[in-house]
Amino acid sequence: MRAGVIGAGSIGGVVARALRDGSVPGATLSGVVDPAGAADLPLVSLDEVLSTSDLVVEAAGQRALAEVGPQVLAAGRDLLVVSVGALADDALLDKLLCAGPGELHLSTGAIGGLDLLRAAARMAPLSRVTIETTKLAANLVQAWMSDEEAARLRTTAEPVELMRGPARDVTAAFPKSANVAASVALAVGDWDVVEAAVIADPAAELTSHVITADGPAGSYRFEIRNRPSPRTPTSSEVVPHAVLAAIAALAEPRVVFR
Ligand SMILES: NC(=O)c1ccc[n+]([C@@H]2O[C@H](COP(=O)([O-])OP(=O)(O)OC[C@H]3O[C@@H](n4cnc5c(N)ncnc54)[C@H](O)[C@@H]3O)[C@@H](O)[C@H]2O)c1
Repeated sequence: MRAGVIGAGSIGGVVARALRDGSVPGATLSGVVDPAGAADLPLVSLDEVLSTSDLVVEAAGQRALAEVGPQVLAAGRDLLVVSVGALADDALLDKLLCAGPGELHLSTGAIGGLDLLRAAARMAPLSRVTIETTKLAANLVQAWMSDEEAARLRTTAEPVELMRGPARDVTAAFPKSANVAASVALAVGDWDVVEAAVIADPAAELTSHVITADGPAGSYRFEIRNRPSPRTPTSSEVVPHAVLAAIAALAEPRVVFR
């Protein structure tokens, strides 16, 4: 499998280097697209990636996914999406689903349990789903916050709940931090049943996501505690490895949970 990477930042850079270095059996790096450059990676144009790849990994952000995702799928290339939060936009999701012949894949990214939530929701609608994300306070400052609010976050000595509400609203307010809320909503196939919360904790060394779900299939609680990426502390270090695991499963399906 020839895999191209769009976006060579903290996630895409790790993915591209691992592919370049041959650490994913059955997959090679076809090229990298990033206007910001990446000195040690083979930078190419989008057209070149489309003509030389079987799979394209989007790790460039929500806007880039909207801009190039439909084109990737229309060219018959499979697309592995990392910026899952962008799919809170139903129109974009519909566009991507209709854009084929390429296939759309979503990275599990920073969380797990999506398979079981999907199975439970398939058996019967879930009555309640929550995802609470707790991050180091200083990493949750957003452009829309007032100066006072941002300063309070940087100096708070206590955990502060910044937002709790429908997953779609939380995903929109914290685009870099709430991909996980979108992943849960997409896994259960219902945005309205999912409540998301974002908590700023000045002492949070690890980023945690606590996912709970209740319904006729049972009662579930997953707690994920990820180490933040040293380069981009708003993201977790495991995320590029989730992408690489997905590429490995697509390139050489051996023992794959579906
Ligand atoms: N699914 C998850 O669980 C999860 C977890 C963490 C981050 N994310 C998402 O993954 C995405 C990437 O995160 P990151 O930390 O690597 O970001 P980053 O800012 O470190 O890297 C993004 C890179 O994409 C490049 N880029 C921007 N627009 C581009 C375009 N149109 N074409 C090509 N390259 C372009 C930028 O120059 C940058 O180098 C973000 O949307 C983030 O929210 C998802």
